[in-house]
Amino acid sequence: MTLTETAFQKCISPSCGAVFEVDDVLVTCRQCGDLLDVVYDWNRSQPPDSLRQFERDWRNRTDPLCFSGVWRFHSLLPFALREQVVTIGEGQTLLQPADSVGNYVGLNADRLFLQYEGLNPSGSFKDNGMSAAFTHARMIGARRAACASTGNTSASLAMYCAVTRRMQAIIFVGSGKISYGKLAQALDYGALTVQISGDFDDAMARVQEVSKKLGIYLVNSVNPFRLEGQKTIMFRVLEALRWEIPDWIIVPGGNLGNSSAFGKAFAELHALGLIDRIPRLAVINAAGANTLHELYEVRGVRWGAGKETDEAIDSYYQQLDDEQRKASTIASAIEINRPVNLRKCLRALDVCNGVVRQVTDQAILDAKAQVGAGGIGCEPASAASVAGARQLREEGLISQNDRVVCILTGHLLKDPNATIAYHTTDQQEFNRVLGNRGVQSAAFANRAVAVANDPDAIIKAIQLYS
Ligand code: F0G
Repeated sequence: MTLTETAFQKCISPSCGAVFEVDDVLVTCRQCGDLLDVVYDWNRSQPPDSLRQFERDWRNRTDPLCFSGVWRFHSLLPFALREQVVTIGEGQTLLQPADSVGNYVGLNADRLFLQYEGLNPSGSFKDNGMSAAFTHARMIGARRAACASTGNTSASLAMYCAVTRRMQAIIFVGSGKISYGKLAQALDYGALTVQISGDFDDAMARVQEVSKKLGIYLVNSVNPFRLEGQKTIMFRVLEALRWEIPDWIIVPGGNLGNSSAFGKAFAELHALGLIDRIPRLAVINAAGANTLHELYEVRGVRWGAGKETDEAIDSYYQQLDDEQRKASTIASAIEINRPVNLRKCLRALDVCNGVVRQVTDQAILDAKAQVGAGGIGCEPASAASVAGARQLREEGLISQNDRVVCILTGHLLKDPNATIAYHTTDQQEFNRVLGNRGVQSAAFANRAVAVANDPDAIIKAIQLYS
């Protein structure tokens, strides 16, 4: 059997539903311009009978495909042949019980879990999707790959290009809009880095135009193969919970690739009879980049309302333009006002009986400090999930005995500036980095102790503070 009999690309629009070959290079539907899904003929591919079957593969982890946290679930994303897969060992991530953070959120003991996606090779969840997009790029023989990025996608793309030596990375970033940790990665890995005088939304629009004109393979999450890789984050969460379904999955929302991928993962597992219940999904926006919150919670926009949905989205974007409103948050990874996967995310919210919340930069940084104090840590955008969990707990939508999984999308060291500014003793520095974001306090700051270069003074300070 050939791949083209088992995997396809399909337009997500219920009124279009056009189908394309798996090795077609498209980003959006050729007929109507909507987003695409990768879909499978599960009768022809061989999905597992039970999720427990995956436990067997772990024993074969000297095989790189069984070692990869993405590809050991190959039978749930069978768009490529095993020999076509590109892997650098992504997806070795942890689901960690985190009672101290759970206590902060307002949950009972053993109820909060943190999924540390910052432990991926490039330090963020993006490697899950990049491995899948790279595999597709290899299938179709691409030589150059591009993305717009708030930093993590570009770091991941640059790393995959550097490690595999298969493609040249071309990245579009908003000038001054990405944190140094991420920019450092792209530069060090040798990516062609194009700094655009604009923000992420501008970079995203330009990369789509330019890559189409130049025939460059696009790896932003508008690429449906990316999302196939990101589905596996949920497979690993279930695996770590011994295939039990949590009550809530909570994820930061930026370009809305993760939330879309998670919804697809659960819809497929359910349709295949591999799970009997779908967890609820909470997508958390930063208050300064809250398009999804505004549309879903305030304006009541829903998946499946056809023209009405399109009109509501268009009119909101027009309003953003008229008011010249730009996204603004300390969580630079999710500083996005025009999320490309918006419509897929609405579908995921429908599948998962989802909710959307927005959290302030103050709440994000306080939650981030709590995550750090509990160990491993995360970057600001990731902590939006914990801040969101706390808010939902306060509202009573999450009860104290619910089992909650917060996705920590990126590593603490991705954005040291925000962390240092939170913990600083220098009020001017605090104000420079955080004050203009409406952050007023650092309730959980761990301030460095300044002492003279003198053993007695040092001993005194340690005795005083320890
Ligand atoms: N968290 C981190 C650390 C991210 O880097 C991103 C997105 C998100 C959350 C949002 O995820 O797009 O799936 O809703 N970063 C992209 C980038 C946009 O370019 O690196 P999403």
